Amino acid sequence: MKKILSFSVVAAVVAALALTSCAPQATGPKKIVIGASLPTQREAVWVKGRQAMIAAAAAAGVELKVLSADADAAQQANQVESLLSQGIQALILAPADATTAASMADKAAAAKVPVVSYDRLILDTKNIALYVSFDNEKVGELQGEWLTKAVPKGNYIIMSGDPGDNNAKLFKAGAMKIIQPLVDKGDIKIVADQAVANWLPSNALTIVEQALTANKNKVNAILAPNDGTAGGAIQALNEQKLAGKVAVTGQDAEIAGLKRIMAGTQGMTVFKDNRKEADASVQAAIALAQGQPVASITYDGVSANQTVNNGTFDVPSLLLTPEAITKANIQDVVKSGYVKATDLQ
Ligand code: GAL
Repeated sequence: MKKILSFSVVAAVVAALALTSCAPQATGPKKIVIGASLPTQREAVWVKGRQAMIAAAAAAGVELKVLSADADAAQQANQVESLLSQGIQALILAPADATTAASMADKAAAAKVPVVSYDRLILDTKNIALYVSFDNEKVGELQGEWLTKAVPKGNYIIMSGDPGDNNAKLFKAGAMKIIQPLVDKGDIKIVADQAVANWLPSNALTIVEQALTANKNKVNAILAPNDGTAGGAIQALNEQKLAGKVAVTGQDAEIAGLKRIMAGTQGMTVFKDNRKEADASVQAAIALAQGQPVASITYDGVSANQTVNNGTFDVPSLLLTPEAITKANIQDVVKSGYVKATDLQ
């Protein structure tokens, strides 16, 4: 995985640029500068998102300064301050922690920098111009629909993502919309229900190991919120020779997840083409930096005509559509160019 420029390197580059700015310059419109702060580069989705943002900025002729926070909210706060001090005109922020990020959005607003909440919603602030994401409740519904179809009756392990990530709540809410009625009917029994701190596969492994032990391996289905946690769950199943016998969901169309779908140990994933999400965010940030109204922003036929409540207000939202992927339509991911056919061999 490519390492991102550390803050000190960025600072050195900025300092060098400041020195050279003494030289006479051609006059012309000033280049728009966008800042972006991503929560992590651990999962491939975030790596691809970063690459797509860089490509989108290059294509649009704007400057993009993109940093990643290693799932650390304090580090992200420092990075956002640094970006703001570098005179960015719009901020794309995907929070490591949804509520801590409110103060970052507030600082941006104080500096008159519009904020695009990217993929994950920033909670408890009015200072978000636009939320660009997927329909995250729908992601959960797709998982719940596949799982209950695969296992209409039986013992379920329910895992949700990191509690500091608002998406985790939306994914779970969507999935439980489908699963809960079958629990109420008595067909499904939830034998464990736990959040996976930091989305770490190793935490998912422990949760599933413990649930298998506590239930003498009598588990039929596992709601795993993304492919990383599905990987941990399947490792635990493997230890008990149960991989392929227990239905497991996922999300992100990661190569490892797609390969498990081919092998039959994971049943599904959810494909969110986050190249589009990243591109839409950069386009939106440019429009906002130019002072265009949020209502005028559209991407790929989708407009910012939806809202998602963040605890303070209904945030204008541009939501893309996720797609459920099973062995039957796995080629959709290849056809889109998101992964190569050879990646799946
Ligand atoms: C979520 C994102 C998922 C997954 C997860 C772990 O916010 O929507 O696609 O990547 O974070 O990073």
